[in-house]
Amino acid sequence: MPHPTHPRTVLVTGAAKRLGRSIALTLAAGGWQVAVHYRSSQQDAMDTVAACAQLTGGSALFDADFEDETAVRALLPRVVAHFGRVDAVVNSASLFEHDNAETFGFAALEKHLRSNTATPVLLAQALHQHVADRVAAGEADAQGAVVNLLDQKLWNQNPDFVSYTLSKAALEAAGTMLALALAPRVRVVGVAPGLTLTSHMLSDDKFAQLHALSPLGRSSTAEDVAATVKFALENRSITGTTLLVDGGQHLMKFDRDFSLM
Ligand SMILES: NC(=O)c1ccc[n+]([C@@H]2O[C@H](COP(=O)([O-])OP(=O)(O)OC[C@H]3O[C@@H](n4cnc5c(N)ncnc54)[C@H](OP(=O)(O)O)[C@@H]3O)[C@@H](O)[C@H]2O)c1
Repeated sequence: MPHPTHPRTVLVTGAAKRLGRSIALTLAAGGWQVAVHYRSSQQDAMDTVAACAQLTGGSALFDADFEDETAVRALLPRVVAHFGRVDAVVNSASLFEHDNAETFGFAALEKHLRSNTATPVLLAQALHQHVADRVAAGEADAQGAVVNLLDQKLWNQNPDFVSYTLSKAALEAAGTMLALALAPRVRVVGVAPGLTLTSHMLSDDKFAQLHALSPLGRSSTAEDVAATVKFALENRSITGTTLLVDGGQHLMKFDRDFSLM
């Protein structure tokens, strides 16, 4: 558990807007200091930092392009240099570009794997090293936690977004391996939303119709997902598993990705 005299600090990737921003604000409201990562949405990220700082008094901005391994490796040390410590990482940033069996190629797969798989693994590796450094420095009870944002479509596959889906399937597998490899110091938990936020590919009416397509008649909201991330970070018994937060959408069969229905 975090040292009682230090506020807990979490790095949330892709936190400028959308789900990452909701997660950052929920954690800040719960007393976490939030390191807000962004790539290109600088103004939105500054707004997230200001909103988090109002809630906890401690928040800061960190840019990095997750297709650049050097930038990824530098990120967690930059957060540690700013806050003095990091207790958790939430891997929410994600590349989501369409391809299918006809258009698939190495280039598309590689950039999805860099952003959506290799980056979360490197950030978990860096957190584990940081926690080990704290133990070596005398903080015997130092602990860390990682939450990886997955997707209900891993349990409910369709032929769209091949590279994205492969990158998230690999991240789900990495979660199991890392939970074993990084225990007992660092826990690793997956959180898999259903259709939560709309995209430029869906009208508001279509989004509402698809959001209701689930056994519970309602897929996840950003607040549902953020609350689950907070629960996963703070529950000391959970590691190596995934919490599906999707109104049960993974139990249904969809022929296409939501954005193409
Ligand atoms: N939204 C949903 O309904 C839904 C459903 C299922 C699963 N999920 C999962 O939940 C997570 C959050 O979803 P979301 O809809 O909020 O995500 P999103 O809007 O698609 O992407 C979040 C952020 O990822 C960042 N990003 C993308 N590529 C990057 C790169 N190469 N380097 C650094 N940052 C990069 C972008 O930051 P900048 O804008 O700063 O460039 C972007 O704002 C994702 O992991 C997603 O797979 C979401």
